[in-house]
Amino acid sequence: MEASGKFIVFEGIDGAGKTTQVELLAQNLRSLGREVSLGAEPTTLESGRAIRRALSGAEKKSECQMAAMFVLDRIAHNIDSEIGIRALTEKGIDVISDRYYYSSLAYQGAATDYGWVKQMNIGSPEIRRPDLCIYLDLLPEQSLERISRGRESVEIYENLEKLTSVRNTFLSVIEDLRGEGESIYVVDANRPPEQIAEEIFAIVKKHI
Ligand code: TYD
Repeated sequence: MEASGKFIVFEGIDGAGKTTQVELLAQNLRSLGREVSLGAEPTTLESGRAIRRALSGAEKKSECQMAAMFVLDRIAHNIDSEIGIRALTEKGIDVISDRYYYSSLAYQGAATDYGWVKQMNIGSPEIRRPDLCIYLDLLPEQSLERISRGRESVEIYENLEKLTSVRNTFLSVIEDLRGEGESIYVVDANRPPEQIAEEIFAIVKKHI
């Protein structure tokens, strides 16, 4: 019987370098002869496009509506017959996703009710747990340095507060889910991309 592919998730605050690391891990896995499919949330499916419209402000939604929309999109990401995590991993293909339910627990969990958001996500029979989650950790100051050079100091302070709160929330989500047996690795993202990729590849090799 064909071995099933692995499902690996990347998370991190703005500017942590998820996109680069997703690409580098895909290259590394392919160099081992593995087949890899890249995904992201919000997805490119209709459910993901509806989220983008809401994020752009074009169609205003409440925080609870947003939480539910992310769940709908995540279920689609799992069960879609073409780009779905289930279909791809069953074919032996590794799937890497840029963001997953950790983002919902961090953002929507903080904005609505953590227990409710967690139950909708973790409790859904059509939302699988990843084999591995890599959290690219960047201090808020380092993140700001990368994403917002040359802005007013007040704005920087506000952003710093927000990034600090998002990072702290992510770290407590990680602690919570590790307690349930999930494999989640916190990787220092304030280093040259190749060095980070090397550490991630070493971690992933232990799980495949
Ligand atoms: P995206 O456009 O991919 O932004 P980034 O490049 O920062 O990853 O994601 C859109 C936004 O959606 C991002 O700010 C995080 C947010 N988001 C949530 O609030 N909850 C979720 O469950 C997901 C997947 C994303």
